Amino acid sequence: MKKNRVGSICLLIILFIFNMSCSFNNSNKNGMGAATITTQHFGTFEGKPITEYTLTNASGMQVVIINYGGIITKIITQAKDSSWGDVVTGYDSLEGYTQKDTPYFGALIGRYANRLAKGKYTIDGVDYSAALNNNGHSLHGGLKGFDKVVWEAAILPGDSSVQLNYLSKDGEEGYPGNLKVQVVYTLTANNAIKIEYTASTDKTTILNLTNHTYFNLTAGKSNTIYDHLVQINANKFTPVDASLIPTGELLEVKGTPMDFTSPKKVGQDIDKVMGGYDHNWVLNKADGLQEVASVYEPISGRYLTVATTEPGLQFYTGNFLDGTLKGTKKGIVYNKHYALTLETQHFPDSPNQPGFPSTLLKPGEPYHQTTVFTFSIK
Ligand code: BGC
Repeated sequence: MKKNRVGSICLLIILFIFNMSCSFNNSNKNGMGAATITTQHFGTFEGKPITEYTLTNASGMQVVIINYGGIITKIITQAKDSSWGDVVTGYDSLEGYTQKDTPYFGALIGRYANRLAKGKYTIDGVDYSAALNNNGHSLHGGLKGFDKVVWEAAILPGDSSVQLNYLSKDGEEGYPGNLKVQVVYTLTANNAIKIEYTASTDKTTILNLTNHTYFNLTAGKSNTIYDHLVQINANKFTPVDASLIPTGELLEVKGTPMDFTSPKKVGQDIDKVMGGYDHNWVLNKADGLQEVASVYEPISGRYLTVATTEPGLQFYTGNFLDGTLKGTKKGIVYNKHYALTLETQHFPDSPNQPGFPSTLLKPGEPYHQTTVFTFSIK
């Protein structure tokens, strides 16, 4: 009996030492933890389980993603006073994300990011109509875009990437072709969130994917983004009509409120733009991945850069947030201009604008776009 007890105590001590050494080995040479991904059940949608994936890197930064809408629900980064805070808008539970008229918080957007005028477009002489959901136009993929579907998810080797897959069937929301879409979210060791989009189709279609995360880099310390300093490498933007459809022109930003070629407070000229910013900037860039924009928030010292392979950036200042959303994180009231989005994309309504870069995707052609959001402190 006694022997057994001594044996058990010895076993416990051995287990304790082993555990200690495991946690010690888990701390890498810099004294920081290894990258991890943990999962948690987040609810059920249309009978399918929704999982929350929490990616943590060696320095402790976290990104939380759910496979409903491929939504980024949290980005937790450090401020210059060493405190941690969540810098994106969202809800406490799945019910928030599935409520009617949620403004695409954190979601993957497809098949067509932003607007298609009257939902109409033509491919090889055939007219198509995408589902209408925005003042007679089609916005962000229609009535049930990629933000409202359940994606198949898998954790990739290395514990820093989550892969999401979705098959959009021929005809879905008025788009031709069976489209296989894959999005890989990676949280890197240098505090970057990399989003890689790939797709293939079996019939010629149009495609314009983005992510619709709303940032407020104060992490709850300010309820507007007026003091965020934004810089966009773009000499031109695409002006829009009253229903936010591009006129087809590319206008110079110089001498207008749209000029963000040097860092400028969002609040400086926002009153000169009806409702606030909700426009596509024509990025000054060659093909390939390039840094195109940055945001600096002086209270926290958080600095965010955006790099992309895309030709455009929709800079939107949460003009339609009106404080009415239910189930928001900790009950925060998201009023107008609470947060901003940096949606890397092809230009809105490109299929109807011959002067804009093409969004056609043909069978056998690769679709590959990358966007990287990198966080640091200044
Ligand atoms: C659009 C806005 C729209 C918002 C939806 C943005 O990408 O440009 O006009 O209201 O998404 O939340």
